[in-house]
Amino acid sequence: MNVTDFEFLCHILRDRSGLVLTNDKAYLLESRLLPVARKWKLATFDDLVRQLRTKMEEAVIKDVVEAMTTNESFFFRDGKPFEQFQNVVMPHILQARAGTKTLRIWSAACSSGQEPYSLAMILSDLSAQLAGWRIEIVGSDLSTEVLQRAKDGQYSQFEVQRGLPITMLIKHFSQKGDRWVINPQIQSMVQFKHFNLLHDPAPLGRFDIVFCRNVLIYFDQQTKTRVLNSIARIMPEDGILFLGGAETVLGITDKFQMLQDHRGIYGVAPNARPSVAAGGAA
Ligand SMILES: C[S@@+](CC[C@H](N)C(=O)[O-])C[C@H]1O[C@@H](n2cnc3c(N)ncnc32)[C@H](O)[C@@H]1O
Repeated sequence: MNVTDFEFLCHILRDRSGLVLTNDKAYLLESRLLPVARKWKLATFDDLVRQLRTKMEEAVIKDVVEAMTTNESFFFRDGKPFEQFQNVVMPHILQARAGTKTLRIWSAACSSGQEPYSLAMILSDLSAQLAGWRIEIVGSDLSTEVLQRAKDGQYSQFEVQRGLPITMLIKHFSQKGDRWVINPQIQSMVQFKHFNLLHDPAPLGRFDIVFCRNVLIYFDQQTKTRVLNSIARIMPEDGILFLGGAETVLGITDKFQMLQDHRGIYGVAPNARPSVAAGGAA
């Protein structure tokens, strides 16, 4: 691949998804885009680039962008954020929203659904305390392919073995051939929507809790700032943001502050969540 083709594709990816590709990832372009070329009945990667240069067909661009996304995910990924959700954030929410009994959670780059379903399983286990509550979990992603997998709610043995406690597997899944199918009760707790994080999230409504994990790492600093600032705008004063282990708000935005003693969880700035910041439990 020549430098001009690399730069041409990088421009499309950055513009459409925020993905920033460094030179050392050039090999990924060819390996991931060859199947896209074949899908569009083009013999080679170079033919695909040529076709894009002559006609920027939306359907082809969509396939190119989706093929370049990294969709790695697993249930209860990294453990700690889900413990914090259950043991720090939910006690605060139960107290702070006792009047309205409403809770909206957004899994903002949900891939094949493991993240929002992990949250749904935790909330399902809290059902006695949440009786009478109106709870919405929205999972969104740029990739329609992973969203379809999320909606299907079917996982391989390998996928359920990564992070999902056996007790949760037995309780919330049933086996169908070599697939594990999430129970309809958990599935019905999550709505899946197509959403590009580069767009304004206001139409999705307001969210008390946002999981935006392991996606900002692919963006440049300016895009990270833009995305985090627009997320802050759709959160209440005591909203809580979860980022991935390699992500931070430091040096990126002043709209969120890390909660004292709770690494990886961020509150909407300035300190508006004293009960959580002080250690959580209501
Ligand atoms: C590595 S996965 C993270 C999944 C999950 N949040 C987790 O931590 O396990 C990153 C996801 O971000 C999605 N993504 C990438 N760029 C996006 C964008 N601009 N808008 C929405 N989703 C995007 C990808 O399609 C992919 O499914």
